[in-house]
Amino acid sequence: MNTREMFAKAVDGGYAIPAFNFNNMEQLQAIIKACAETKSPVILQVSSGARKYANQTLLRYMAEGAVAYAKELGWEHPQICLHLDHGDTFELCKSCVDFGFSSVMIDGSSLPYEENIALTKKVVEYAHQFDVTVEAELGVLAGVEDDVVAEESHYTKPEEVIDFATRSGCDSLAISIGTSHGAYKFKPEQCTRDPQTGRLVPPPLAFDVLAEIEKKLPGFPIVLHGSSSVPQEYVDIINANGGNMPDAVGVPEDQLRKAAKSAVCKINIDSDSRLAFTAAVRKVLAEKPGEFDPRKYCGPARDEMVKLYKHKIIEVLGSDGKAE
Ligand code: 13P
Repeated sequence: MNTREMFAKAVDGGYAIPAFNFNNMEQLQAIIKACAETKSPVILQVSSGARKYANQTLLRYMAEGAVAYAKELGWEHPQICLHLDHGDTFELCKSCVDFGFSSVMIDGSSLPYEENIALTKKVVEYAHQFDVTVEAELGVLAGVEDDVVAEESHYTKPEEVIDFATRSGCDSLAISIGTSHGAYKFKPEQCTRDPQTGRLVPPPLAFDVLAEIEKKLPGFPIVLHGSSSVPQEYVDIINANGGNMPDAVGVPEDQLRKAAKSAVCKINIDSDSRLAFTAAVRKVLAEKPGEFDPRKYCGPARDEMVKLYKHKIIEVLGSDGKAE
């Protein structure tokens, strides 16, 4: 399904739909299991990096398989959207629409304002013919995500959102209020340090900017990218088992919970799943150096991701029970 109805209900209900990225079978299995067990609607996201890694044909059939798998798990009416994350050209978005995606993102946020509108509008005009919804982005997030790199963030300007949404015709808008992609979201100099634990304490998100945007576009679906929390227990397991991730830090979950209650109705989480996977794999391989059967470390990694996704759905986004 596309995102239209999902978002309308989420905005009304004060919760957010999880948008989880997937690149491989174990991630997809974990996402579907977690959503089936909690009856949460879900957006399965594929980035262009994922398309390159896993092959777009395979990903599409994996997503179709995911619907069948969800039903097999006893989820009678699964609500699953297949979404292109960070499309950067009209051609890429068109190819995903033609391929059966139900939603696409066109990310023109690095372009000058008028060019962002023009590109978004072109994608919207094409996608809407097939009832495919379109997410756009205004403002720039810092961080690294697959091929997308930005050194500095620029908050979305609330004074631009009405004009942008009206003229581009987008169905939802990703904004920049201080989140960023990856596992190193804030530089140590942007943070304070907890004297007890020595861990970085990140600066708060710009909720004043979000409130201004909500005021300008009441009820319009807002999206937050870069919303991993970088759970420190995973970072500790990784570091204790041969990894090296000093000062990895994310967005605290209480801030995401607060955002989910507002017009933010889609929250993107990718890095936390990568961390859960890597922590579990490193632990098994460190404890059993003779293990060479991938099922023996990918299986525990999958279990860990199920736990993570369920936690996000129930404790952070509030989307459990919204797709009975
Ligand atoms: P994270 O790196 O915080 O998981 O963000 C993922 C994302 O925004 C995908 O578009």
